[in-house]
This record gives sequence, structure tokens and C-alpha cells, in this order.
Amino acid sequence: MNSYELRQWQIKEAPFRPFDLAHTETILTIGNGLVGVRGSFEEGYPTDSPTTLLAGIFNHKAGTLVPELVSMPNWLSLTIHVNGEAFRLDQGRILGYERVLNMKTGILTRGVLWLSPNRTILRLAFERFTSLANPHILALRVLIQPLSEGQHQLRMTSALDGRILNPGNVDHWANLHGEVSQDQLFINGTTDQSGYHVAMAAQLLSTHSGEWADESNPRCPAHSLTFQLNQNEKATITKLVSIHSSRDTDDPITAARTTLEQAVEVGYDKLKLDHESAWYDYWDQMDIVIEGDEVAQRAVRFCTYHLLIATPQYDERVSIAAKSLSGFGYKGHVFWDTEFFMLPPLTLAMPEAARRLLMYRYHNLDGARKKARANGYEGAMFPWESTDTGEETTPQWTDPHPVTGERIRIWTGDNEQHISSDIAYAVLQFWQWTGDDAWFVQYGAEIVLDTAVFWASRAEYNAEYDRYELRQQIGPDEYHENVDNSVFTNRLVAWHMQQALNVLDWLHQNHPQAAQRLEAQLNIQPQKWQDIAQKMWINVNQGVLEQFEGFFDRLQPFNLYDYTPRTANMDWILGHEKTQRVRVIKQADVVMLMAILWDELGDHDFLMRNWETYYPVVDHGSSLSPSIHAWVAARLGLLREAYDLFIYAATIDLEDHKGNVRDGIHAACCGGVWQAVVFGFCGLKLRDNEITLDPMLPKHWRRVAFKVVHQGRIIPIEITNT
Ligand code: BGC
Repeated sequence: MNSYELRQWQIKEAPFRPFDLAHTETILTIGNGLVGVRGSFEEGYPTDSPTTLLAGIFNHKAGTLVPELVSMPNWLSLTIHVNGEAFRLDQGRILGYERVLNMKTGILTRGVLWLSPNRTILRLAFERFTSLANPHILALRVLIQPLSEGQHQLRMTSALDGRILNPGNVDHWANLHGEVSQDQLFINGTTDQSGYHVAMAAQLLSTHSGEWADESNPRCPAHSLTFQLNQNEKATITKLVSIHSSRDTDDPITAARTTLEQAVEVGYDKLKLDHESAWYDYWDQMDIVIEGDEVAQRAVRFCTYHLLIATPQYDERVSIAAKSLSGFGYKGHVFWDTEFFMLPPLTLAMPEAARRLLMYRYHNLDGARKKARANGYEGAMFPWESTDTGEETTPQWTDPHPVTGERIRIWTGDNEQHISSDIAYAVLQFWQWTGDDAWFVQYGAEIVLDTAVFWASRAEYNAEYDRYELRQQIGPDEYHENVDNSVFTNRLVAWHMQQALNVLDWLHQNHPQAAQRLEAQLNIQPQKWQDIAQKMWINVNQGVLEQFEGFFDRLQPFNLYDYTPRTANMDWILGHEKTQRVRVIKQADVVMLMAILWDELGDHDFLMRNWETYYPVVDHGSSLSPSIHAWVAARLGLLREAYDLFIYAATIDLEDHKGNVRDGIHAACCGGVWQAVVFGFCGLKLRDNEITLDPMLPKHWRRVAFKVVHQGRIIPIEITNT
């Protein structure tokens, strides 16, 4: 690969940017779907947040509002002393520094040339990966070479540091036991509410023998190895780590020991080769090649990389959090972000992975049913925020505002109900694109039908107008809460009811036994569903879809363009109350509906009128917004807007446009960017038996290529710009 090609696979930090630590930690996260590891440094700094998260390990600490992902013991911990001086980037002088995330191989490297305060020059080359071939194996290696004259004493101290707590110093462990046996470390513990048992084991291997010492602290098994190096002599220190939990085995301690033994036997080089070859396969399925635009190419790969490292490889009882496994934003909770933003790329390119994610919802149907009952409804009402139990985990209050101390009631867990249809939509999309009837009959249909049962019990009949309505909703635009007749929700529910009826017919014709089983089990009412599908109120006002009742008449007009440049969201600037009263919207709402239903909504002129109504008032206060706008703008032929919005979305994390990347990657945006290219610029459409393209590429894009899997067949797609 020449350096031009290489650049498009690399995220590089050079020189060192000490003030950007939290941002680089997030964007340089590595992972394998089971484990996510933020890009913090081995030697540790006071302002860093070394975080390793394990998919599905949630705990609800007494006294906190909701469950959250639990920070694992820090396996990266490795400090280096040369002649008694600690290697640290904030001491001595950095003579050279380069950190590179190689997205093609999922390997993070750091090269440092360091002059110690006592003037020893040390060359260090770090490398780390979380194995994609065996997600329970984590590995890091450092090459050390003193360049100054004489003999040098090196002391490497390695730990599995269980003193790392969650933000706010929340300690989720009921207990943590550490153990050292010369070159090996062990730690295991149990979370205090959820009772998950986690075990990790580590071994330090060195090219140079020396003296071992136990350096443990409570909750932090640690050891050191001291050895001598001459000028220019190189030593390589390898730390192999295993991690298991009661989510994957009955006996995590034995599993961690066995996996470690196997890893040591296989050896770092072979582990790395297997990992790289697994990444080769991943990219073979998911890569989008964009020729003629280096910025877009790298940014799209960055988004795809983050989607891939968050995708569970085998566990169908976990999903992908809004901030993946790269930070604590939203506490690791799962939203519609998965079904509408991340799933379509996976359904298209890695259907097996998509199926697992849909199974997460299937396994959590009981939680959804529980929520419906608790609210006086029938069927399955999926939680707005979901964790490991499938129950509603949206907090009811915000954290206090840093300036005013005000806490605001969060209504999304009560009223952002479109999630149930979003999930049904994703199931139907999966079925249509994959043609996987067996899965659909066994699992998918139940999700589509029982969420329809929920809506049938939820929809309110308004006899005066002979129509169905949905009051007290929150559509995608969360700046306006508890509105009546969110057109996004109403229209999607009408669509959902019709699809549910089609599913019933299809089952009766093709799988009568399954139809009978589901009819016996669920409160299916075809007549009522038909009625709702036909009579759900879709409010068209002044020739466009009205986002909700009163959007045009009751909200004050607002000139968003005066507030530029702007990184803060408008609800922060105006305050929560005022934002509710003005015509400024958080994110794609009607435009989101356009993206998913497109010409089912109306003709080109109608769609364009809606765009012209909502685009000028959108704040993009959610990272979910720009990519969807890019997609829709491309379809409308508004290429300039489409490209600007697309680049903004694609670089949202790389360039930290929102100033909040420290909390984690905007994983939905990553999926949205993939979709903006494929559905927006390329105009891919999949119907039952055909695939069509309607490219609207930016002029300077010479070629776009990717693969999709349609009805079990891999179809390479290539578009050249003429
Ligand atoms: C957005 C939601 C999204 C959530 C998690 C919110 O700011 O408005 O649509 O699901 O973030 O990403």
C-alpha cells in the first residue's frame, strides 16, 4: 500500500495533543464487539479515563437513577521506569511522537522518542489490539530501546487495575479479588446488584529475563520485572490478557485461565495474524470505497470501523449502545439508534450480525410486555432506553445543570413510543432484504405483531372526526415533548399496522401453523388494525406534513441562522422551556420519515416542500440528524447541501464538532453516514427481487464500490461518475 492509500486507513495523532486527551481516547477506541477499550495510555495520567467495557455487563448501583455499563479493571496499565525515572509524556521532553489507529487491522500503535529529565533517550513503540479472532483475548506489546550511552535499568510494572471506577466514583463491584504469581496476574469480581461475575488473567512476557517483584495494591494485582539494557539494545515486553464473564461461561475464572494459557501458547505474532485476518474479512464485507475524495474515504472508514468494533460477534442478548463501548455517554443504553441507524448497514453487509441484534429485541419481548402492562396497554411496548433486561431504563430526571443546578424531567421513557415501530420496521427490512423466512416465521413475526397489538391498545379513536390519534408523544424531535399527533409516529404506526396485516396474510398462506400459534398467543384484531391503518390521522397542513398538532400555529417563528457559529444545542442556549415554544427542531423528524418511506409519502414536489419547511429550522442538536439530511438532500438532487451535511456527519467524531466526543462515539451517526452514501448518494433500493441504483454522486467522486448481501447472494456494486 502506498502512503496515499495508507492515509485512508489511518487515524493519526502527531504531534502529541495533551489537551485533546479525552477526544483522542474516544476516537482511538479499539474493540471486537465483546470488549471496548478507550485509547488511554498505558502509563496513565491524572486526567485520563482508562476504560474497558464488556458488552452487556450492566449494574444498577443503589442510589443511582439507572443501570449503567461497568468499568472493567484496567488491563492497559503498564508503567516503565528507566534508571529510576518514570516514563511520562508530561515530564522530560518529547522528541518524537506518533499515534496511529490502523483501521484496516484494528491495531493501535504509538511511537515515542523521549528524553528523560536526567537526559536518557528512550525509544518506545507500543502496539495493542483486542482480538477479533477470539474476542476474549486482549494484547499489548512495547518495544524499548535506550539510545543513550551506558547500561540502563528498566523496570516494567504491569497491573490489572480494579481501582478504576465509573464516572462519579460509582463502584459497581461487590468484591474484587486480585492475585499474583510471578509473571501472571488474576482478578475476578462480582457486580453488586446484577451479580455478573467477571474474571481476567494476564501474563507478562519479556525478551529479557530479570527480577520479578509483587507490586500489588488492594483491588490491583501488579508485578514488576527489572532488567538491564545496553545502549541501542532492544527489549520487547508483551502483555497478554484474557477476559470472561458469567455472560459467556459458568466458570469465568477457569475460562480466563484457560484462554490465557492458550493465548500464551499461540503467541503474540500468531494472535496478531489471526486478528488481522479476521479484520480482512470484516472489511471485505463492509468497506465502502470512495475514489476521488480522501476526506470522505477516511471518514467513512472511520464510521464503519466504529460500527464494526461495536457489533457483537456471537451474543444475541446484547445490542449496540448509543455510544458503543467507547465511553459512558447514555450509560451504555440502547436506543432506536441501533434499529434505524446501525442495523441497515449490517443487514445489508453482515446479515448474521444484524440477525443477532434483532434477536436481542426478541429475547427482550418480555420486558416490552411488562412495560405495556405497567402503562395499561397490551402487547409489546419496547423501552426507549434498554439494557440487559429489556426493561425501561430511561432516567426520569437529568443530572443537575452545571450552571443553574436545575434538573429536568425526562419524558422520553414515557412517551417516545415510536421505538416499538422502529424495531418492527427493522425486522421487516431484515426479512425483505435477506429473504430469511425461517427466522421471520420463528422470531421476527412475533415482534411485528405484538408491537401492533400494543398500538391497537394505544391508539385513541376520535369519534368526532372518525379518526385515530396518538396524544402525548415524543417524535424524533425531542425539543418538543408530549405533543399530540406527531406525524412521524402516526404515519409510521399506520404503516406498521398495514405491514402487520400483510404479515398475517402471508403467514396464513405460507405458514398456517405459525399463524395459528401467534393468533392463539397474541391479541390480534385484524379489523381494528385495518381501521387504524386507514384512519390514523396524518395531518397535512399548508401542503406539508405538520410535525405535530400546533407546530405551525402555536410555535413562535425563530431565526436559527442568527445563531452561528454554534456548537451548543439550542435547548442549552434558550433553556428547556423556551425551546418547547419556538419553531426550532432538534433533528430529522419529518425528514426522517421521508428517508424511510420516501415516495410512499407523496410525489417529488410534496417531498421538496417538506424539506424546505423543516431544513431551515433544524438545529442538528442530535448527531443522528445530519447524515439523514444528507441522504434526503441527495435524493432530492440538492447535492451541495447533501455533501456539506454528509462531511459534517462523517467527521462529527473525528473533528469533535459537538465538543462531546469525550463521552463516546456517536454510533448512530456512524451508521447514518454509511446509509447516506449507499441510499443517499448511490440511491440503492432493494425490493423483493430486484436491486436498483439511482446515483447522485458528488461531482468529484470518481468511483464508489461496496458489497451488499441480497436474499443470500453477495452483490458487488460499483458506480463510476461520468
Ligand atoms: C436523540 C435521540 C437518540 C439519543 C441517543 C438523543 O439526543 O435525540 O434520537 O436516540 O440521543 O443517541
